Amino acid sequence: MNYEEIINQIFEIVDEVGAYQLEAKKDQNFSVETKGSNVDFVTDIDKTSEEMIVKRIKAFHPDHSILAEETGMADMDSDYKWVIDPIDGTTNFVHNHPFHCISIGLKYKGETVLGVVDIPTIKMRFSTIKGQGAYLNGEPIKVTDKKTLDRSIIATGFPYSRKEDNMNIPYFLEIVNEVAGIRRGGSAAVDLCFVAAGMLDGYWEFTLNEWDICAGVLLIEEAGGVVTDTIKDGHSLIICGGKTIHDILTSYVLEA
Ligand code: IPD
Ligand code: CA
Ligand code: CA
Repeated sequence: MNYEEIINQIFEIVDEVGAYQLEAKKDQNFSVETKGSNVDFVTDIDKTSEEMIVKRIKAFHPDHSILAEETGMADMDSDYKWVIDPIDGTTNFVHNHPFHCISIGLKYKGETVLGVVDIPTIKMRFSTIKGQGAYLNGEPIKVTDKKTLDRSIIATGFPYSRKEDNMNIPYFLEIVNEVAGIRRGGSAAVDLCFVAAGMLDGYWEFTLNEWDICAGVLLIEEAGGVVTDTIKDGHSLIICGGKTIHDILTSYVLEA
């Protein structure tokens, strides 16, 4: 499989889908529904974007499996699995906030081999192929090497589900007073990319799904960072950053 060719195929797809999303945003012409909770939004633009992406991938690779957020799994009994979030940051999208992106990753035998995250509003395109580094608009990026939280900007996020206690609040309350700054960007994939590019020093979040993180995790690893993707108290948990900040966050959130 020629991964460079595939990256170029994904660039073609996100060019088309990103332009479609920006056009839809311009006149705020979309319908908004809720999913699992009253603040978990989905728009017709999420659904149509996903259809556009899946159609193009199927045309390029008809025998590959595809996991996409809005339509679930199309299992083709293939070693290749595409993992797609057509809009990560739908709440931002709905509110005309610029932090939303298209996230597309490809796994081979369970391991992510390449990924693209495109933020159409601010024209940032992150891309990576395993073993070949991480890039922002074609320029190499790397994570920061901060040693202490009080010099670090850290991001986190909070689940949409309001039915149960928000498991992140105790960790947030502890960490918020230790850091130079805390951020809640509203798109896990953007958060991961900003860590990869050294615009954030670290990030943690509970209850994310595979499509939120597939491409972003490889971007961080290829940018020299460390990622822990695990389960705590029955919830998925991701922690990442440069090595030292990753380890410090791990001691606060995972080992606490
Ligand atoms: C959400 C965003 C958000 C995170 C949520 C995700 P969506 O994805 O990544 O930052 O906190 O948990 O579900 O719903 O906008 O694709
Ligand atoms: Ca998402
Ligand atoms: Ca989404």
